[in-house]
Amino acid sequence: MADDKMDKIVSLAKRRGFIFADSEIYGGLNGFWDFGPLGVELKNNIKKAWWKAIVQSRDDVAGIDSSIIHNPRTWEASGHISNFSDPMVDCHVCKQRFRADHLAEEQGIEVSEILIKGKCPTCGSKDFTAPKAFNLMFQTHVGPVADDASVAYLRPETCQGIFINFDNVRQSARLKLPFGIAQIGKAFRNEVNPRNFIFRSREFEQMELEWFCEPPQFASSKKPDEWHAYWKEERMNWHLAMGLKKENVRFRDHEKKELAHYAAAATDVEYNFPFGFKELEGIANRTDFDLKQHSEFSGKDMRYFDEQAKEKYFPYVIEPSLGVDRMLLALLCDAYAEDEDGGESRVVLRFAPQVAPVKAAIFPLIKKPELMAISEQITQSLKQDMVVFYDETGSIGRRYRRMDEAGTPYCITVDFDTLDDQAVTIRDRDSLKQERIKIEEVKAYLLEKTR
Ligand code: GAP
Repeated sequence: MADDKMDKIVSLAKRRGFIFADSEIYGGLNGFWDFGPLGVELKNNIKKAWWKAIVQSRDDVAGIDSSIIHNPRTWEASGHISNFSDPMVDCHVCKQRFRADHLAEEQGIEVSEILIKGKCPTCGSKDFTAPKAFNLMFQTHVGPVADDASVAYLRPETCQGIFINFDNVRQSARLKLPFGIAQIGKAFRNEVNPRNFIFRSREFEQMELEWFCEPPQFASSKKPDEWHAYWKEERMNWHLAMGLKKENVRFRDHEKKELAHYAAAATDVEYNFPFGFKELEGIANRTDFDLKQHSEFSGKDMRYFDEQAKEKYFPYVIEPSLGVDRMLLALLCDAYAEDEDGGESRVVLRFAPQVAPVKAAIFPLIKKPELMAISEQITQSLKQDMVVFYDETGSIGRRYRRMDEAGTPYCITVDFDTLDDQAVTIRDRDSLKQERIKIEEVKAYLLEKTR
């Protein structure tokens, strides 16, 4: 059943132009995806909504857009060169490579038991290599000479671009604690097993906020763990406002042994994907680890001077970090439904109007020049303010079906009565109710409903 739903979503995503396998004509490349006309609009709407909530509507958060490739010392300081690895095992018989922790979880055993109890999912052999660490960063070389001195890395997370710019942003934007710096951008991880469609890819986008606050011993208002609680609540409210169903999202606190090397506490927002509840967003208390490390490795003092306490210290950091692609997959899964309209079965994506890739479709009832001309005029006028789609081919029923599958919340039909009353019919994707409204009121109506 779960596989069935996932298969349907993957097939719909391709058929309707949300997501394609990258370089498909050459057989694809595992872990890389391309976003089509509907996918890119959906992605843009996710990023816009996040930026609005985290940066635009707040006085205490500034945005940046850093480079993808940093001086490689960045990754020594952050711990990625020594720690950013997954344990891997190879099957001696079929030579397949697996993530040891995934294999152990699937087979209900501990990683330490793989050599004794583990079984190869591909060939059934019990002959594995010992688990060894595999670094997930993609390497490249900067400049014309490919030697050790020119090695650089594609960033595996966007937040280090924020930490290395901490002083630049703080000074230029005149920020005082507590404050945040946010960034949206590509990240790259050479995942051992990319899987579950776009859930775990090798190239993806992150939306990260680094919230700098007073360390516990200097806290004049909220302590870091209280800010952690604050951001958990903010982020959960955002996910619900994006339309995710309450019963499909939950928190999961990390146990001590799961925590990343930099974190004192971490909570995942999990989503109930067709393959189970999995991490959608991570909200971590990174302590003062990153700024301290970059100070030490760069030799630049990145402490903050607290004018009240008359002390210099490294701020603590609370980090909500969400993958754009993972959010897009959660929205697709949550929106997917099969139901009936007038006795006919339909597939419908019930996106919240503000995330829907196309806000409205405009149809002339039939292909008559006078109806087509009015429909074109309405389309052109709406295009200035929102993404709309004009469609004159096929029966009205078929056109509705196509728009339901794209998740378009409103369909506008121009009919012969329009010529007399200057009004159109607006059909609501979810209630299937049809309303007659004046052409001059259409734009305000849609802006109000899809904001
Ligand atoms: N800066 C902290 C950090 O990167 P993470 O838990 O490794 O933490 C944060 O990643 C978020 O980025 C995840 O919750 C997920 O939404 C997204 N993400 C991480 N790895 C991903 C992958 N391979 N494919 C797609 N999204 C990924």
